[in-house]
Amino acid sequence: KPIVLSGAQPSGQLTIGNYLGALRQWDKMQDDYNCLYCIVDLHAITVRQEPAALRAASLDSLALYLACGIDPKRSSVFMQSHVPEHSQLAWVLNCYTQFGELSRMTQFKDKSERHTQNVNAGLFTYPVLMAADILLYQANQIPVGHDQKQHLELARDVALRFNALHGDIFTVPEPFMPPVAARVMSLQEPTKKMSKSDENPWNFVGLLEDPKMISKKFKKAITDSEDPPRVYFDIDAKPGVANLLSILSGVTGKAITALEREYEGKMYGHLKGDVADAVISLLEPVQKTFAELRADQVTLNAVMRSGAEKARERAAVTLARVNDAVGFVAP
Ligand code: AQP
Repeated sequence: KPIVLSGAQPSGQLTIGNYLGALRQWDKMQDDYNCLYCIVDLHAITVRQEPAALRAASLDSLALYLACGIDPKRSSVFMQSHVPEHSQLAWVLNCYTQFGELSRMTQFKDKSERHTQNVNAGLFTYPVLMAADILLYQANQIPVGHDQKQHLELARDVALRFNALHGDIFTVPEPFMPPVAARVMSLQEPTKKMSKSDENPWNFVGLLEDPKMISKKFKKAITDSEDPPRVYFDIDAKPGVANLLSILSGVTGKAITALEREYEGKMYGHLKGDVADAVISLLEPVQKTFAELRADQVTLNAVMRSGAEKARERAAVTLARVNDAVGFVAP
């Protein structure tokens, strides 16, 4: 089976963006691929985190992965920091990545503008750590949202460069773009993506939020002032309505065109209410399973430990080949 690797940062509560753009695909991929899913805590500290909150968010993420259908019997689920090979390979790859290449990364430009007091070296080399995550497991397919495409390109470039110098060490990964709802946008500023670490909580919907709050957030979502109001999909002219339609389509599986017909002559409030209800029913079973798992630390420990053990077996093989290729003396 081809190998797939993906992960999310425990930099806040996972959102419906993370669910529609990543977690839902991860679940489906388990049938056809050999999957590794990690909680990328090393990535999360590129932005300052409060230690207790990071620990809690990491365990929440683990329980949420499982509640969203990730099956630890079929897939390896682990904390990135439990597999030291990620950091070790990242150091080597840092020495094979150019300053200029990293300077062109749009996520760095964006995050360094948002976190001006802490533009640290880790934030700059974030894509190299991501390349290490992927290349360590010789993963063939990487499910990525639109926003991660540039990082995957970089991982490919670094792999090709390393291979050209040292022989066939790395598998060059291919992106795998989910067909629908690849990008969920912010509810208040629908021209930017929904992010779990957004300072304004009205911009995102977390997977663990209370149904009443979810309804309130959708009710407050920005639409537009077209008069009379009309529900149709136009990302440029009506980004708010387009986002609501695309979330509803993602959650219900109905085509956007079918939804447009369904909402002909209806008000925005009607659409908002339906999106909220659809999201609430989607999350109800997830939240229930989450609550059981999060209270069961013994199971969580067993899952993450065995996940890390399986991951390390595979990672150690690649790292040994890399160390040998660059000329390190075998220990
Ligand atoms: N809004 C989104 N729509 C669709 N997919 C999304 N993803 C993230 N946001 C959306 C996908 O979720 C996976 C995990 O992402 P991540 O946590 O590693 O990093 P991120 O992309 O930076 O996510 P956030 O929520 O925006 O985190 P913060 O706020 O900490 O930066 C990825 O596959 C991503 O594409």
